[in-house]
Amino acid sequence: MNTKKVLLTRMFPEIGAELLKSACFSVTAWNEDRPMTQEELIENSRMHDAIFCTMTEKLDKHFFKECSHLDIISQFAVGYDNIDIEEATRLNIPVGYTPGVLSEATADIAFGLMIATSRKFVHLHKKIIKGQWNYFRPNADLGIEIKNKTLGIYGLGRIGTEMAKRCIGAYNMKVIYHNRKRNLKAERDLQAEYVDFPALLARSDVLSIHCALNSQSQGVFNKDAFRQMKPTSIFINTSRGSVHNETDLIEALRTGTIWGAGLDVTNPEPMLPDNPLLEMDNVTVLPHIGSANVETREKMARLAAENIIEFYKNKQVPHIINPQVLRNK
Ligand code: DGY
Repeated sequence: MNTKKVLLTRMFPEIGAELLKSACFSVTAWNEDRPMTQEELIENSRMHDAIFCTMTEKLDKHFFKECSHLDIISQFAVGYDNIDIEEATRLNIPVGYTPGVLSEATADIAFGLMIATSRKFVHLHKKIIKGQWNYFRPNADLGIEIKNKTLGIYGLGRIGTEMAKRCIGAYNMKVIYHNRKRNLKAERDLQAEYVDFPALLARSDVLSIHCALNSQSQGVFNKDAFRQMKPTSIFINTSRGSVHNETDLIEALRTGTIWGAGLDVTNPEPMLPDNPLLEMDNVTVLPHIGSANVETREKMARLAAENIIEFYKNKQVPHIINPQVLRNK
């Protein structure tokens, strides 16, 4: 009998708890439809050996000071900017995550935002609701064409690759990218061209952000960056809102420095309903739903549970952010 206790910090797809229970873990699930406060999170985590959490939980220095006893943290997400990984590693706590399984779902959202923005879906839908669909107007509400244009990707990894495949297949787009490290597979398979950051800004017709949030990417898309983009360009962000400076983005859209924006992530989240972006013709905003389809969320729950099960069974974590800690286990 496994006596280890696992805390599920949110209401996750059932399969996560089922897998843990069938491996004989004692599972407690937070069953309110809201994240715990920091105090609740600490208090509950203190009574458990492992936590299965997601990006709404802030696992910062204070958390780790209070919960240094944890054997493992399993994050239900590919991004992990909510966790102080350095501190977890210092305390020898492995942190698992769920890469790969949400790449296609997230790329679908980036691709959808690109089309919705280029053809002003949300703005036009709102006009119908307001009773403003009166007659056919040949020169009104025109979008811009995507076909044969250049897709720029900032952070060409798994999700960026899926976005590129969609844009090449549907619109024959030329792909350029900027990464910390060259992605030779994408250069080979997608004929993606590596460019420096200024060239990415200057040449992209659609610039799609797929990087992780870290000290290097935080606030990179600011006034200075937007100024270097084409006035006909569309900015898409499905990674983390803090990669762009929202005040600068609003200004760039207002002044026509760039043409449009499609955002699945905002800064801050949740976005307030009076945010000026919500009233702009060429802006589409979604409430951080990149991975939100049934199949993807189940795969994420499965992976997050397996990370915990494998750790206790074999001292392995199939998808781990800080593998160096396993050497000391
Ligand atoms: C992730 O996995 O990082 C997403 O943003 C949450 O679905």
